[in-house]
Amino acid sequence: MKNYINIGLFGLGTVGKGVVNQLNDNGSLIKKRLGREIRITRAVTANPDKERGIDLKNIQISNKINDIINDPEIDIVVELIGGIDLAKSIILQSLKKGKSVVTANKALLAECAEEIFNAAYTSKGLFGYEASVAGGIPIIRNIRESYSGDKIMEISGIINGTANYILSSMSEKNETFLSALKEAQEKGFAEADPTFDIEGIDAAHKLILLMNLSFNAIFDFKSLYIEGIAQIEPIDIEIADDFGYVVKLLGKARDDDKGFEARVHPTLVNKNSILASVNGAFNAVQVMGNFVGETLSYGAGAGSYPTSSAVLGDLIQIGRALSSSDTSSPPPLSFQIEHLRKKQILPIDELETEYYLRFTVLDKVGVLASLTKSLGENNISIRCMIQKSKEHVPGLPVAVVILTHIAREKDIRAAINEIDKMPIVTSPTRLIRIDP
Ligand SMILES: NC(=O)c1ccc[n+]([C@@H]2O[C@H](COP(=O)([O-])OP(=O)(O)OC[C@H]3O[C@@H](n4cnc5c(N)ncnc54)[C@H](OP(=O)(O)O)[C@@H]3O)[C@@H](O)[C@H]2O)c1
Repeated sequence: MKNYINIGLFGLGTVGKGVVNQLNDNGSLIKKRLGREIRITRAVTANPDKERGIDLKNIQISNKINDIINDPEIDIVVELIGGIDLAKSIILQSLKKGKSVVTANKALLAECAEEIFNAAYTSKGLFGYEASVAGGIPIIRNIRESYSGDKIMEISGIINGTANYILSSMSEKNETFLSALKEAQEKGFAEADPTFDIEGIDAAHKLILLMNLSFNAIFDFKSLYIEGIAQIEPIDIEIADDFGYVVKLLGKARDDDKGFEARVHPTLVNKNSILASVNGAFNAVQVMGNFVGETLSYGAGAGSYPTSSAVLGDLIQIGRALSSSDTSSPPPLSFQIEHLRKKQILPIDELETEYYLRFTVLDKVGVLASLTKSLGENNISIRCMIQKSKEHVPGLPVAVVILTHIAREKDIRAAINEIDKMPIVTSPTRLIRIDP
């Protein structure tokens, strides 16, 4: 057996450079743990001549995909370029050749799960993707291995650091969404194009991956309900605070009697809950198993080094398997391949939870009666209500906020639809679901 493991690295961006630096710094420590050296022999990147300010000696760099895929000396391919088509082709070709693969590409794994995991199950190579969810938190390994004796009932978490950073800034510094986003970009917590983060798409990719692992199936990404944070206004943060809540972008999935409920949206979380204290760019994932009970994992959710650390963990685990005669690694999704089939997510209309409703209405007699009548007629029971206005100026709009008892999403939408058509309503009603 060789006393080293050869890596072919696709991508020398934020995460790729982190992997190179971590291996440069911790290489000898890793060798003591693995018993063999991990060395990056080749890297493929779009602009091979770009100056990157890191030590790349002994790495042959090119822009030709086949330089890695066709190199028989490469044991593990690390895909860190992101995107769908090229990354998919690299991973499928590498697995087909029997090479092991490590990736951080949550978008690809969520949107093309069936194709990628089919290839991973049937390849001679091993497959690691710890870096694709919540960076430095080893949540995939926890679910796939440590909780594999449990029936997982529920997963919920703050799984997008950028959105959490923005909501935390809005809450702590009274900022608007746009100024909090600008600050997050200036401090490097948000990308120049933050669409995936603020629209909840990145969190949705991660939630689907956690669901696939937890609920023994492949879930259709397109059927997941996703709502981002761009509509959250300082007034919502302020009123939520008055009621004892903070606003968080939560990904939540449950396996209950009716089926699988799953969604990503801003949520009012009780100030006394552990998730409420997860601030800034940090992530936290709660897993509820039928025997382990409630568990929480917390840590840095993204960034060069928390993510490279997860990549290195996978490389060492695969390196150990390649070094031993025992080939019984855990299956890529924790269950056996015959369960690799699609399951449906319940439509959001079926959801039953509590709601925060902020109506913007004219400040005049009879307004509250009109709102409560419509809610009552749609089976929605009111838990509490406040009117927020600095002074009483007849004819000017005010915010009326109602918190409901548990209601059905379908009924809530029907009521809002009815109320928003009333002449007393001056702006569309804002809805935020409450984590009861
Ligand atoms: N950044 C994070 O904190 C984080 C956290 C978790 C997961 N991830 C995932 O990790 C992956 C990489 O993210 P990143 O932030 O490191 O991205 P990034 O900084 O944009 O780096 C992407 C790298 O891919 C290379 N590349 C792009 N197109 C290519 C092509 N056609 N052929 C060859 N190389 C190409 C780029 O080359 P050049 O440098 O030469 O232009 C660059 O080195 C993504 O799947 C992302 O979702 C990232």
